[in-house]
Amino acid sequence: MQYLSHQLQQSNTPPELASLLDVLAVACKDIAIRLQQGAMSGVLGSAGEENVQGETQKKLDVISNDLLKDYLLASGTVRALASEEEQSIVAGHDKGGYLVAFDPLDGSSNIDINSMVGTIFSIFEAPATDTVSEQDFLQPGRHQVAAGYVLYGPSVMLVLSTGDGVQMYTLDQSAGDFVLTVEQVTIAEDTQEFAINMSNQRYWAEPMQRYIADLLAGSEGPRKKNFNMRWVAAMVADVHRILCRGGLFTYPWDNREPNKPGKLRLMYEANPMAMLVEQAGGSAYTDAGPILDIQPEQIHQRVPVILGATNEVAICVDYHHKS
Ligand code: AHG
Ligand code: MN
Ligand code: MN
Repeated sequence: MQYLSHQLQQSNTPPELASLLDVLAVACKDIAIRLQQGAMSGVLGSAGEENVQGETQKKLDVISNDLLKDYLLASGTVRALASEEEQSIVAGHDKGGYLVAFDPLDGSSNIDINSMVGTIFSIFEAPATDTVSEQDFLQPGRHQVAAGYVLYGPSVMLVLSTGDGVQMYTLDQSAGDFVLTVEQVTIAEDTQEFAINMSNQRYWAEPMQRYIADLLAGSEGPRKKNFNMRWVAAMVADVHRILCRGGLFTYPWDNREPNKPGKLRLMYEANPMAMLVEQAGGSAYTDAGPILDIQPEQIHQRVPVILGATNEVAICVDYHHKS
């Protein structure tokens, strides 16, 4: 059996990064315990507050955010952190080597129905300067030194890339540690499965309308093959399915709120998932170009997301170029 810390040592992960990843894993095991206790520990339901995203926070959004913050800030490895649930960046240890951005609980509308949720994280090297500011986080996702997520499902799984492919670990509850269960994840280039929230159809741009209409037309349409559809309403679970069995996932641009060009957040959702998907041989685009090449303008920025099977992502992006 190959445990996380042993695997990180073997793959020559810098010791401080390995120690940060170990702390993240411990924090997520703690979140998993709260989720498993569910209604028994009074953690379900709304916290009654709005976050900086203008969304109502669930109690577990707040609990997960506080747990991650406490563990990361105590670790000594984190110079500063940015969270979907925090208005501004939070300074950490002066000598910490890394910046961490995270979505403490993704898919939080699934909490109260005992369905899948996850924690998503993105790690950059800290700047060499004495001070740290929000500006230091505003670098393209291409600069991430590690990214991943923990999926709280029937098994608790850690999916991680440190720039050398994607590995999957499963939490061995009896040992209390993550065991390497998939050494190298690969996404097939082609697919007949897509994931989108169809209820937003009338808000999409015209190229996305046409692309999805052609998928739905199946073997009688221009694509000449049938497509299946899945939607978990937690990006972490939809991307996990794509890493396991392929597919295309999109949360496209829509015209519901003109100042939000999409629902998903670049720093906490799109960048880390784009790194995993590219490292597994897939593609991750907005309707204009690769997600990992975006120069962020602010930490809570939102972007359209189209990711998964390389050939299918290219076809979808092509509809946008031709229009
Ligand atoms: P979060 O719970 O962190 O706010 O993220 C939810 C996101 C993402 O996980 C998911 O793909 C999408 O919102 C679901 O949106 P719909 O409610 O439109 O299905
Ligand atoms: Mn999220
Ligand atoms: Mn969230």
